[in-house]
Amino acid sequence: MAETYPAILFVHGFPFDHEQWLPQLAALSRWRCIAPDLRGFHSGRAPAAGYSMGSYADDLVGALDDAGIDRVVWCGLSMGGYILFEVLRRHPGRILGVILCDTKAEADSAEGKAGRDELIRVAQRDGAAAIADRLLPKVLGVTTRGRRPDVVATVRAMASRLRVPGLVGALRAMRERPDSGPLLDQIGVPALVLGGSEDEISPAAGMRAMAQRIDGAKYVEVPEAGHVAPLERPEVVNEALEDFLLHASFG
Ligand code: MLT
Repeated sequence: MAETYPAILFVHGFPFDHEQWLPQLAALSRWRCIAPDLRGFHSGRAPAAGYSMGSYADDLVGALDDAGIDRVVWCGLSMGGYILFEVLRRHPGRILGVILCDTKAEADSAEGKAGRDELIRVAQRDGAAAIADRLLPKVLGVTTRGRRPDVVATVRAMASRLRVPGLVGALRAMRERPDSGPLLDQIGVPALVLGGSEDEISPAAGMRAMAQRIDGAKYVEVPEAGHVAPLERPEVVNEALEDFLLHASFG
């Protein structure tokens, strides 16, 4: 019997774009992989307004419609995970499985919201390069910062080319996102949760706890990686993705 492989939709985080997934797109050649830029990021259109987890989710489902694809495995990193939760709310029938990378289910705290407001002010005053300077030390793990200048340069390039409307729109959308904790025990599809051991934004302990709340979820902690584990340790992440994609039972 011919094997059938599910299509995978990769949803990037902030302040990145589809290029964060290049190591996965190269390695997972057996699968049909789609990795769009979200609105306001890189090649995506950048309207002045209209940014929310809902509009990102609807845009992605629209992209699947345009490609003639019904259901996919959704793989979201950080903000991509927040969007994935919104797809679970709005379009659950389009989901074959979920891969949650370096993300969290809870909404922003009051302190987190104040941090978003400060970044919005910086973005509007000084542009994307200033945001890149602020976020780089947080998004990359200490090991990557010390040993992988190529990855540091790639992430800086992605962050610096963000356009201000997209940047501000994404910060506002993350600030306003709802708590997705109650969704976790309703996820009825195969799930993989993975994150970097050095992730300071979505710490490993929280990722492990999130996996424990999803029925049957597998958890993988990626050593010596920060908040962009798929780019920082692609060999470890690709092996985990392949293992999940080959062995999970997608309906
Ligand atoms: C991301 O990687 O998408 C962001 O770090 C998420 C966030 O700031 O909450």
